Amino acid sequence: MKIIVTTSYRKQGMSAPAREFAEDGGFVFVNRADQSLESLKEEYKAEAVLVWHQQGPILHLGNAKWFFHPGAAYNRLTSFRKMGQVDLMAKACAFQAEDIFLDCTLGLGADAIVASYFLPGGKIWGLETSPAVAQVVKWGMKMYTSRQTWLNDAMRRITVLKSNHRDYLRNMPDASVDIIYFDPMFRKPLLDSQNMLLLRSVADTEPVSIETVTEAIRVARKKVVLKERNDSGEFDRLGFTHIQGSKNNPIAYGVIVL
Ligand SMILES: C[S@@+](CC[C@H](N)C(=O)[O-])C[C@H]1O[C@@H](n2cnc3c(N)ncnc32)[C@H](O)[C@@H]1O
Repeated sequence: MKIIVTTSYRKQGMSAPAREFAEDGGFVFVNRADQSLESLKEEYKAEAVLVWHQQGPILHLGNAKWFFHPGAAYNRLTSFRKMGQVDLMAKACAFQAEDIFLDCTLGLGADAIVASYFLPGGKIWGLETSPAVAQVVKWGMKMYTSRQTWLNDAMRRITVLKSNHRDYLRNMPDASVDIIYFDPMFRKPLLDSQNMLLLRSVADTEPVSIETVTEAIRVARKKVVLKERNDSGEFDRLGFTHIQGSKNNPIAYGVIVL
């Protein structure tokens, strides 16, 4: 998918950071020059436009807009902070404060932010293969400022890498991270928000391969964790035998303990 980068109409002083953002993601930057996004798309034969705003980049695709927001992580962590509600993903991963956590399917980054919150002394890497998703989330996590310092701290600790986990894992040394996490696009999607539908149109929807799980088992020291629908055949296919979930939750976590 060809994607170009430009600024919003109110662009004074915004060209320099927008150029830096475009260069960092390997996208072409084009001057807005008061043109509509539609005419820019036509002129540059692009399918989507990343528009640089002071609050962070916004992806325009068709009539929809997609941007980074830490709302889902905020809600999960607030339920934990205020009511002690156990986060199922945190439980499946059994975080220890200094763990190194590799999220192989970063997406909107909610799970990575939750992991980061529980790993104040650890390291958190997020791999994302879709160039648009990686770039929006990488810069969104840098630029979004919440009134909650714990949320800002959790976002800023994450290193986002635009990479396909298949290639990345192959090049990693044995036993070099503690937990490896997969949350692929579900084979049978649960009907979800507008944001999730749009993510589906730019995300990589390939299933996780058996070779990738074998590599993850080699690279992880403690656990490999897979999130899927609780009725998914993926757990069986990929060799996840220890399944954690709750009765009323359509989502479950498969864990391979090393
Ligand atoms: C369901 S989303 C992840 C959502 C994320 N856990 C969250 O909390 O927001 C799956 C993401 O993984 C990405 N992905 C799929 N296959 C990948 C691969 N081989 N390497 C890296 N990223 C991949 C997709 O592009 C998509 O953005």
